[in-house]
Amino acid sequence: MAVLVTGGAGFIGSHTAIQLLEKGYDIIVVDNLVNSSVESLNRVRRITGKDFKFYEADLVNKEEIRKIFIENNIEAVIHFAGLKAVGESVSIPLRYYHNNLLSTLNLCEVMEEFNIKKLVFSSSATVYGNPSSVPISEVFPLSATNPYGRTKLMIEDILRDLYASDNDWSIALLRYFNPIGAHSSGLIGEDPKGIPNNLVPYIAQVAGGKLDYLKVFGNTHPTKDGTGVRDYIHVVDLAGGHIKALEKVSTSKGIEAYNLGTGNGYTVLEVVEAYSKACGREIPYKIVDNRPGDVAACFADTSKAKEELGFSTTLTLQDMCMDSWKWQSNNPNGYEK
Ligand code: NAD
Ligand code: UFG
Repeated sequence: MAVLVTGGAGFIGSHTAIQLLEKGYDIIVVDNLVNSSVESLNRVRRITGKDFKFYEADLVNKEEIRKIFIENNIEAVIHFAGLKAVGESVSIPLRYYHNNLLSTLNLCEVMEEFNIKKLVFSSSATVYGNPSSVPISEVFPLSATNPYGRTKLMIEDILRDLYASDNDWSIALLRYFNPIGAHSSGLIGEDPKGIPNNLVPYIAQVAGGKLDYLKVFGNTHPTKDGTGVRDYIHVVDLAGGHIKALEKVSTSKGIEAYNLGTGNGYTVLEVVEAYSKACGREIPYKIVDNRPGDVAACFADTSKAKEELGFSTTLTLQDMCMDSWKWQSNNPNGYEK
C-alpha cells in the first residue's frame, strides 16, 4: 500500500515514516521544509535501509499536490503538515490560518478528485481548550484558546462536514497529547528552530549547556507539587498509533477522533527529575510566573484508542528522557552539520 506522508520531514512524521517502512508500506513524503530539514529523511533511509520518494513542495499550492497524485498510486494519506507554535500563532494568526487551512483544503480536494478517501489527520489535545476535568475523553466539549488550536478545531469540523457529505470517506482524527523523546538510534529527534517553546526540548538544551536554566511556569497550580501536569507520550509510541489508525481507516468507513496519550500525568518537576537522571546532571531551574493560557492539568482517557484501535503505549517517562538526551547529546545542533 502506498501512503502519502505530508510533513514527513518533521518530528512526528519522520518517526512515523520509519515504522511505515518497517511495516512494508511504500511511502511518498511531501514537505516544504519550513520547519524541518531534508537530513531527517536521509536518516530515516539510513535507519530503515529503505528508499522512498520525497517531494519538496508546499501544500498551499494545489498543483503541486495534484502532480504528486498523478505520479504515484497513492491509496491513503497521513497528514502531519502544519505550523504548530502556539505563541507564534497569536502574533501571526493569518499565516497559521492560511497555511494550515489551505493545505488541508487543497489536500482533501485533490484526494476527492483522485477518489482517495482514507485520511489520518494530526489533531491535538489543544482542541479540548480548558477541560473541566481530567482525564479527558473524546466526548468532552471542544474549544480553542489560540489561533493554532482554532486551525485544528476548524480542520476537524471541515473533515466532519466532508464525511457527512460523502460516507465513503474514512478519517481518523488523532488528538496527540505531549509527544517527546526520540528514536532509540539517536539519529532522529525534535529539532526546534531558535529557542524551544516546549518543556522537554528546552530542558534538553539546558542539559546540553546551550541554555542556562529552565523557567518553570508557576508552582501554584492545583497539582501535587504546584507545577503543570501533562500527558507525555514517547514519539515512537505515538508513531505506532498512526499505524493502528491507518489500519483502521483502511478497513472501515467513518470519522472518529482518538486521544493518543499514555493516560499518565507528570508535573514539570517530575520531568526535570527524570531528565536529570537520564543525563546524569542537575537541571538548574527557577520558578517564574505562570504562562498565560496554560491549563493546570491535561491528560488523556485512553480507553477509546485502546478498544477501537488496539493502541497502547509501552515506553516510560524515563525512556522518553533517555532517548531525548541521546538525540540531544549526539546532535547538539540538531540536523545542522
Ligand atoms: P513539525 O513542525 O516537526 O512537522 C510538521 C512538518 O510540516 C514540518 O516538517 C513542516 O516543514 C511541514 N509543513 C508545514 N507547512 C507545510 C506546507 N504548507 N506544505 C508542506 N509541508 C509543510 O511538527 P510535529 O511536531 O512533527 O507535528 C506534526 C503535526 O502534529 C502538526 O500538524 C502539529 O500541529 C501536530 N501536533 C504536534 C504536537 C507536538 O507537540 N509536537 C502536538 C499536537 C499536534
Ligand atoms: N513549561 C515550563 N517551562 C517551559 C516550557 C513549558 O514550565 O519552558 C511547562 C508548561 O507550563 C506546562 C508544561 O511545561 O505545564 C508543558 O508545556 P509544553 O509547552 O511542553 O506543552 P503544552 O502542554 O503547553 O502544549 C503542547 C503543544 C501544543 C499542544 C499541547 C497539547 O505545544 O501545541 O501540547 O497537545 F496543543
